[in-house]
Amino acid sequence: MSYVVGIDLGTSAVKALLVDKNGTVAAEASRSYPLFHEHSGWSEQKAEDWVQATIEALNELASSNGIAADQIEGISFSGQMHGLVLLDAENKPVRNAILWNDTRTTAQCREIERTLGDKLLGITRNPALEGFTLPKILWVRQYEPQAFEQAKLFVLPKDYVRYALTGELHMDYSDAAGTLLLDVAGKEWSGDVLSAFELPASFCPPLVESHGLVGTLLPEIAERTGLQASTKVFAGGADNACGAIGAGILSEGLTLSSIGTSGVILSYENDKDKDFQGKVHFFNHGKENSFYAMGVTLAAGYSLSWFKKTFAPNESFDEMLQGVGEVKPGAGGLIFTPYLVGERTPHADPAIRASFIGVDGSHERIHFARAVMEGITFSLNESVDMFRSVGKTVDKVVSIGGGAQNPVWLQMQADIFGATVVALENEQGPGLGAAMLAAYGCGWFESLEACADKFVKHAASYEPQPEAVETYKGLFRIYQQVYAQTRGMNEALVAYRG
Ligand code: XUL
Repeated sequence: MSYVVGIDLGTSAVKALLVDKNGTVAAEASRSYPLFHEHSGWSEQKAEDWVQATIEALNELASSNGIAADQIEGISFSGQMHGLVLLDAENKPVRNAILWNDTRTTAQCREIERTLGDKLLGITRNPALEGFTLPKILWVRQYEPQAFEQAKLFVLPKDYVRYALTGELHMDYSDAAGTLLLDVAGKEWSGDVLSAFELPASFCPPLVESHGLVGTLLPEIAERTGLQASTKVFAGGADNACGAIGAGILSEGLTLSSIGTSGVILSYENDKDKDFQGKVHFFNHGKENSFYAMGVTLAAGYSLSWFKKTFAPNESFDEMLQGVGEVKPGAGGLIFTPYLVGERTPHADPAIRASFIGVDGSHERIHFARAVMEGITFSLNESVDMFRSVGKTVDKVVSIGGGAQNPVWLQMQADIFGATVVALENEQGPGLGAAMLAAYGCGWFESLEACADKFVKHAASYEPQPEAVETYKGLFRIYQQVYAQTRGMNEALVAYRG
């Protein structure tokens, strides 16, 4: 049997999947690495930590029982998006990577808007958001001129790991789309944007398709991982693009709901000119010449993890959520807005913070837990609402991540989105999408769709329940008011934050 490996370089850990020609996961290995929050709103990682963790995970896979290294034909990647890795003339990182969830760059976002005006949306198809890469580049130039002086080019997290494995520097379109330096529809680095910020063309790596072959393993890496030096390495894609591929979101009409640390509502798009007016993200897909629109909730799974860490530190998620299905929709009049680290869609606001509204003496911890799940889902529903308002149909949503692990949450999504929600059998997240890019790149299938037909299997499906749908419609209108009502207070509170 032949295998491919999908490497999912996440925010807290790297997970590598060994996948056979039927799409069955034969083995998996994972290694975590630290996050550094030196100041409130900052979020950094060490690029070398990613590389070491990936090598260890690959080594564990390569030594799986009964699998010979020459059976592993190809490797590809899914990467956390937007993170800035600045490299010097020797391709060494000049400082820690600044991650997607770092919000220090508000002033640089305003500078980008002033400088580019209408070109920003016209070319990059996205608004200037703190998480994206260009604002981070401008921040380093302004506050760390010595580090910037040494920087010769930039890459994104998975590109650095791929470089460390192969010695080849590239970036794929789906990840490049999140930098604000790409002409998304034209599929090239934007000369206009680069020159507006006096960045040379050489600052950006060569662009490739996600299934593009970029090289093979360096001999030293082959030795350390136990893989063969001839193993083919394919570019890979942004985690959201790979999550979509791994869930089979490869044709018009399909929508993905993904609840990881952050949460995403993503809808496939064929039309490169479809205008979402910057209200949601518009990125290149990992499937050639296709796109997707996406709304992001910054603290989705993170909100529930925060809740568990703070109020149920010694329980498992299952223990904490026991009985959550018996609490009626609406959590007894308790609403949570998941703005623990600011928000992206629809309120791009790094200063906003979370609220519980309507706390009552009768509420128990389980009401709060349900309200957190509902609040995360309401936030995702803002994106569903937005897609519908520009004429997209959202009637079938594939759910992955934390929201798909719990039947109560799957039903809640169906009721809040007002759509059929489908879970996947043996869901593997973006790592499977990465493996599919390698499988397609290796020529196992004639298209990604053919690969998805084999690899992606639908499991249980959940239909909206009319009574709950009505309850949630009313609550969603109240939820939507909380942002405007608490915005001023949160701005005033900024001065008191650590
Ligand atoms: C997307 C985004 C997050 C990260 C998480 O714009 O910032 O979904 O990709 O890794």
